Amino acid sequence: MTFKNSVIYQIYPKSFKDSTGDGIGDLRGIIDNIPYIASLGVDYVWFNPFFPSPQRDNGYDISDYCSIDPAMGTMEDFDELVAALESHGIGVMLDMVLNHTSTDHEWFQRALAGEKKYQDYYYIRPPQPDGSLPTNWVSKFGGPAWAPFGETGDYYLHLYDPAQADLDWHNPDVRAEAAKVVNFWRNRGVHGFRFDVINVIGKGSQLLDAPLGTDDRKMYTDGPDVHAYLRELNEASFGRDEDSVTVGEMSSTSVEACAGYSNPGNHELNMVFSFHHLKVDYEDGEKWTSTPFDLAALKRVLNEWAVGMQEGDGWNALFWNNHDQPRAINRFTDPGRYRVESATMLATVIHLLRGTPFVYMGEEIGMTDPDYETISDYVDVEAHNAFASLMETGRSEREAFAIVHGKARDNARTPMQWDSGRTAGFTNGTPWLRSTNQARINVADEEAEGRILPYYRRLIALRKAQPVISQGRYLPYAMDHPEVFAYIREHGGQRLLVLTNFRAKQAEIEIPLDFTEGSILISNYPERTLDSTIRLEPYEALAILISN
Ligand code: GLC
Repeated sequence: MTFKNSVIYQIYPKSFKDSTGDGIGDLRGIIDNIPYIASLGVDYVWFNPFFPSPQRDNGYDISDYCSIDPAMGTMEDFDELVAALESHGIGVMLDMVLNHTSTDHEWFQRALAGEKKYQDYYYIRPPQPDGSLPTNWVSKFGGPAWAPFGETGDYYLHLYDPAQADLDWHNPDVRAEAAKVVNFWRNRGVHGFRFDVINVIGKGSQLLDAPLGTDDRKMYTDGPDVHAYLRELNEASFGRDEDSVTVGEMSSTSVEACAGYSNPGNHELNMVFSFHHLKVDYEDGEKWTSTPFDLAALKRVLNEWAVGMQEGDGWNALFWNNHDQPRAINRFTDPGRYRVESATMLATVIHLLRGTPFVYMGEEIGMTDPDYETISDYVDVEAHNAFASLMETGRSEREAFAIVHGKARDNARTPMQWDSGRTAGFTNGTPWLRSTNQARINVADEEAEGRILPYYRRLIALRKAQPVISQGRYLPYAMDHPEVFAYIREHGGQRLLVLTNFRAKQAEIEIPLDFTEGSILISNYPERTLDSTIRLEPYEALAILISN
């Protein structure tokens, strides 16, 4: 099994299953549900961070990289989890948040207490001569990217929340610490790693203002040092395991940089997450807006990344959903009228593309965004900051709420819906985030009579059975079609044509003649005959295989 024919399941531990009744998911809750995870046929489980953290950014503000958050369990639970998954042939992928630490981390605290060694772990800078902040960069969660460093008059850099201080990777001690963290978990049997926002670790050695009117992210993203730092980390840690699987989260990146990060010849990472396809419902590139998604742009981006990564011998991590994104089913399709068709169509797009698919918990039962009614339903710091700033810039409360409702990260963080009960079978207590539609959408019903879960299981199994899916070349098809996203995969004597209708109405498409003789590999509608013109039903997905 290599990462190319693997499928990876993502679990947000805080929301998967609570075994203690405190309303927060935990490791024991995951262990108890391993049979369900194994039944999907996945090869790895990526866990969002469950390390000690003050939870300013839901665990991405880590105060100790080598322990388990007591609210989530113990190291014994963790070892049991690894062993239990392994007994089903499933590997563990841990989230390595190495661009920044919590300001509660011992390193930052010792820096604050005046220890020079640890001050050099961070970007601590004096104000500019005119008294302004060291640079004009803004935090990704809103506001300036600099906060006062204690009473010193200096400032420390935080590209995210002020509770997340950026580490200075120019310092070789920081790089050695990073490798030490990865090696700590390798020694506990972990061979999968997801590296959080890893393409911002290579800032310039001098931090400079972004020229007026330009995007400040260019000043610290995909810097030339990132490749060298990744190679060094690879060599000092996970690269020593033959079976390691790694994925880097790349923010505001380019195809070219990502082909570099994941080209096997470069010895950096196996694959990358990029986000351009999830920005096609942003107005003027701005997330906190409300506008219908642009299908032509979505097709262009998916195609550009498929072609570009293939040409550069790179590898995409394929996904629609994660803990940072509202549910794709709400963004791109019609879960009200066509939930089953929508969920299975979207899954088909991703699972048959060139790359490694990731399934975010709940996606496999067609979970949707919750029907929240007030801003107090949301927990995420980013949602509250966005709401406040939308109000400040003159939106009415209603408008501001509608935008947050559509874009908040909490949309994906609601508890896994196991059954139709009061807390969706997630907890015996009060859940940290509320479920709203478990009566309609839950695992128990899907297992009994659903069509989404079995479809995911089939897609996952197909990647292992059909080399054309795991290894085939990607070719664009019907790029100008206004409703259908289509592509072809080729491998040896096999050719696969994938057709997906992104609209709630019928759509016609011509197919190459030889495919009329092919067989249907998978479809989310009942059997049909193949003619040179195919009329696809609303949100239909159809994959036709020719094997010579
Ligand atoms: C990544 C994580 C996100 C977190 C951020 C800062 O984007 O996925 O949840 O807030 O990094 O660590």
